[in-house]
Amino acid sequence: MQFKQFGQTGLMVSRLCLGTGTFGKQTDEAEAHRMLDKAAEAGVNFIDTADIYPPGAEVGGAEVITGRWLSNKRGSFILGTKGGGRMGPAAWDVGNSRKHLLDAIDASLRRLKTDYVDLYQLHMDDPATPLDEVAEALDTIVRSGKARYIGVSNWLAYRLAKALGRQDTLRLTRFVSTQPRYNLLFREVERELFPLAQEDGIAVIPFNPLAGGLLSARYRHGDTPEKGRFSPELGGFGAMYHARYWHEREFETVGKVQQIAEQQRIALPTLSIAWVLANPAVTSAILGASRLEHLTDTLAAADYHLESAVKAQLDEVSIEYRRGDAGK
Ligand SMILES: NC(=O)c1ccc[n+]([C@@H]2O[C@H](COP(=O)([O-])OP(=O)(O)OC[C@H]3O[C@@H](n4cnc5c(N)ncnc54)[C@H](OP(=O)(O)O)[C@@H]3O)[C@@H](O)[C@H]2O)c1
Repeated sequence: MQFKQFGQTGLMVSRLCLGTGTFGKQTDEAEAHRMLDKAAEAGVNFIDTADIYPPGAEVGGAEVITGRWLSNKRGSFILGTKGGGRMGPAAWDVGNSRKHLLDAIDASLRRLKTDYVDLYQLHMDDPATPLDEVAEALDTIVRSGKARYIGVSNWLAYRLAKALGRQDTLRLTRFVSTQPRYNLLFREVERELFPLAQEDGIAVIPFNPLAGGLLSARYRHGDTPEKGRFSPELGGFGAMYHARYWHEREFETVGKVQQIAEQQRIALPTLSIAWVLANPAVTSAILGASRLEHLTDTLAAADYHLESAVKAQLDEVSIEYRRGDAGK
């Protein structure tokens, strides 16, 4: 396993991070703990969770499962969670208001059975709450010792730039990371977010490196999956993933990437994640898995050297997803 500095912080993180989005719905606790064991054995020291995980089930389940595994080894891992998603029926149970975030961090810590997280991330932007209120609430959380660093996820570059400016002006704790969607079928973040991150020393920890599994070539366009990321078992999320990726053009691109993987005699998931890691803006890629065996090919990406000529071929076959004219 290789390690990389987490933005401009003094923290070193493994280049692969284990995501927990399936824990408690697609993946039961015993299998989730086997996945955490396997990732840890491979050198992964970085875990990503969120209060709203797992999608399609009761919120909080993934944090509970992760917390039980971590309880006797908390100090050996960098733990990131996220807040801001809907946690209850009240109007203030969602979003990045001071009221919601101060409640959300306490509830996450209770479920995770810890008194701090290393990284507290805003799961989504919340344009309705003033940036100064968000920045002050997060600064309170860091000063109280409940989080060591703060970051964002799913934020547009201009909003992150604006927030960093306000944090600097108000002398409040600065965001150190961003967690965007990024893969061979979704590259728009290369245009504005990645340059901002590199200029400002912001760590980039992409999720969705396999486009929910499309970049494993396990699907054909005509399939109607009954289980997994593209199925109705995840409620609205299955439909959202269909809308994002289940198109003839994406399947054609996966076919081209698969050809390159075959030429290189490497598994498609390994190659796809190695390509994400090869972008100089990327700090660590977040792996998702619903079964233990998924991790064999994805963890292998940490040790796979992607030659620059092969990277150039992958850049070329996926260039349309960088241009911002992909129409979605
Ligand atoms: N910040 C955010 O908004 C956000 C959003 C989503 C995820 N995340 C985080 O990022 C993590 C990873 O994201 P992701 O789950 O979208 O990543 P992903 O790598 O794009 O998709 C993971 C899914 O791909 C399939 N898969 C994984 N390895 C495979 C293999 N070797 N062979 C065949 N199929 C394989 C599995 O699908 P099936 O489940 O269908 O078996 C797995 O659940 C999540 O766990 C979560 O921690 C963050």
